[in-house]
Amino acid sequence: MNLVFLGPPGSGKGTQAVKLTKEKGLTHLSTGDLLRAAIKNGSELGKKAEGYMKKGELVPDELIVGLIENEITGNEILNGFILDGFPRTINQAEKLKEMLANNKVVLDKSILFDIDDDEIVKRLSGRWYCPKCNASYNYPAKMPKVEGHCDFDNAQLKRRPDDKEDVVRNRLEIYKRQTKPLEDYYRKESILVAIDAKQSPDEVFQSLINLLNGLN
Ligand code: AP5
Repeated sequence: MNLVFLGPPGSGKGTQAVKLTKEKGLTHLSTGDLLRAAIKNGSELGKKAEGYMKKGELVPDELIVGLIENEITGNEILNGFILDGFPRTINQAEKLKEMLANNKVVLDKSILFDIDDDEIVKRLSGRWYCPKCNASYNYPAKMPKVEGHCDFDNAQLKRRPDDKEDVVRNRLEIYKRQTKPLEDYYRKESILVAIDAKQSPDEVFQSLINLLNGLN
């Protein structure tokens, strides 16, 4: 099962990818997580990407494609994966197609997380994460047991710099301009399916399971 999760920022792609990889034994590849790790490690890639990410803009395709190529080529990810946050431009989608064809792998579905802007702004202004284990929380939908601390390791929770409202609005604009065209791209390939991402996390997960069971 090889999947692309497509959808605007805050639509729940990461939350569902973590759950679904556990349930189905897939590999979760999030370009956002890889870039944030690169920034944390102070690598060349991180230094180049940081400015774009802070403003909510896309990191240039050549950096992203190189990153994905490293992860994909000859890796066990090809036994089944969820790509979360990649591709984000038509050019990236074309490069992905090429990489998968070279490895004789087929993309099964591109799953669109359908949601409106107001819900996104609300979710992202309530998002907190654990810098140690990456667990994600949301006020008030998914509160930690002890306010401000991670349930798993008690670390102090943090906010993402790109979750400030003006940056979120910019990310939404960029999504509409540069990433939304992928909906048509995958529709034409007959692999686009949409799920209602406004439901509760458990309901979204159940929708995904129903969808994937229907594919088997
Ligand atoms: P990335 O990290 O990929 O961010 P994103 O796509 O903007 O997605 P988010 O992580 O914000 O949201 P999500 O859909 O995963 O939602 P989540 O599950 O966290 O990218 C960050 C940046 O990196 C980009 O802006 C760009 O600069 C760069 N980048 C990355 N990939 C790139 C690429 N391919 N090309 C170029 N640049 C790239 O949920 C959000 C919140 O809502 C959480 O708090 C969660 O707990 C809560 N929540 C989730 N589901 C529900 C629900 N059903 N109900 C209520 N709350 C919910």
